[in-house]
Amino acid sequence: MSEGAAAPRVGVAVPAAGSGRRMGGLRKPFLELRGEPILLHALRPFLADRRVVAVAVALGREEAAEPPAWLLDLDDRVTVVEGGASRAESVQAAIAALPDDVSVIAVHDAARPLVGRDVVAACIEVAAGGEGAVAGCPATDTVKEVDDEGWIVGTADRSRLWLAQTPQVFPAAVVRRAYADPDPAATDDAALVERLGGRIRMVDAGPSNMKVTRPGDVALAEAYLAGVEEDAAPDAIAGAGGAVRIDLRADPDADLSAVVAHLRRGGVVAYPTETVYGLGGACTEAGVRRVRMLKKRGAGKPLIALVESREAIAGLEWTESARVLADVFWPGALTLVLRDPHHLFPEGVRDEASGTVGVRVSPHPLAARLVRALGAPLTSTSLNPPGDAPAASGEEAARLVRALGGGDVWILDAGTLPPSGPSTVVDCTGPEPVVIREGTVPLDRLRCAIPEIHARS
Ligand code: CTP
Ligand code: MG
Repeated sequence: MSEGAAAPRVGVAVPAAGSGRRMGGLRKPFLELRGEPILLHALRPFLADRRVVAVAVALGREEAAEPPAWLLDLDDRVTVVEGGASRAESVQAAIAALPDDVSVIAVHDAARPLVGRDVVAACIEVAAGGEGAVAGCPATDTVKEVDDEGWIVGTADRSRLWLAQTPQVFPAAVVRRAYADPDPAATDDAALVERLGGRIRMVDAGPSNMKVTRPGDVALAEAYLAGVEEDAAPDAIAGAGGAVRIDLRADPDADLSAVVAHLRRGGVVAYPTETVYGLGGACTEAGVRRVRMLKKRGAGKPLIALVESREAIAGLEWTESARVLADVFWPGALTLVLRDPHHLFPEGVRDEASGTVGVRVSPHPLAARLVRALGAPLTSTSLNPPGDAPAASGEEAARLVRALGGGDVWILDAGTLPPSGPSTVVDCTGPEPVVIREGTVPLDRLRCAIPEIHARS
């Protein structure tokens, strides 16, 4: 979506007419989580989005004839229709009830009560840009293909497998075409849209965006719900070519809890640092993998990590000179390479060959606040592909994120950064510290603190 384009008018189709066979025949949409129907939980994040103009809920025949009062009273945008014998037919009925002039259609299962506003917003952004978006998460189990008798016939490459969830969001015309004559056996919407061609991207919603399917799932959803931050997506969330962009220029102190929740789900952010805009995520397997994938970084060359303080990484091996450098120059554009004998950092941040990590405390107020709010280190690599100019503004960050294919990346726009070189990198693993890269902090200043420090010859 180009900047300034009209906001999309979004219609939401919510299939809620299933029989809950795997739930012992209970009507899942009306089971309660924390005293509220699952369907209500599922609808709220959509109703909170101002771009949503209509929501059609497909219920069973009797329920549709006499819908519960709370649903009728919920919101003027909500209508109820009668569903069909299959999910596809229920979705078809709901779509038919949406106004003709919606430009984007989102399909969301009533049985997914934990979807976040951020995921809804990110998917709508992609669809408003003319492509498709499917919430999901990377497979964590290995997936086997079997024959009719359960014998394995193949193993797919897990690094390329995602589990599809909902919402599934597309330009309205595409959805209407896909559902003109749907295969009743289709269990998701993308499968129908894929046949028409066009690009569809996965948006990482994490495993908590679960579908309540079996009896134990209600307790599991309650547990997730207890851990989910209250719906705290900042109002400043707005679109920038398929990625979520959070405008922090006017309010640098804005609440970051939605961003933290995104990072905890394995999400990635483009954010300002004291040097240039960086790309980073939590130091978890998912967070590291996604950053490395976006930067197309092969094995070797680890990511560095921004940390809250020296104390927060006391478990690394601190030489005396490393301690002095940290005391003098942190927070600051000085990256220290230290040994990580206890594997505090995951592979991809920890250099496996040398067992070391590169860390620093960023003096940029937003980066520092984000690391504090996350309560854990944040990976940091410059947003630009190797050889390209770095991003010094939110605009440039948005452009680079687009070029990287990062529709799932949240851009934290703090405006234009003052010109700056990269951080200085010092290897503190040997008896004397060695400057690996001289950047913003010059060698002379380092020498004031540690006279024997020298540049790598
Ligand atoms: N759904 C629907 N109409 C159907 C079948 C399913 O609207 N004929 C909806 C469900 O209500 C649910 C979503 O599609 O919100 C996802 O389906 P699923 O989890 O399979 O729910 P059920 O079909 O109800 O459960 P089961 O397959 O165990 O019977
Ligand atoms: Mg079903």
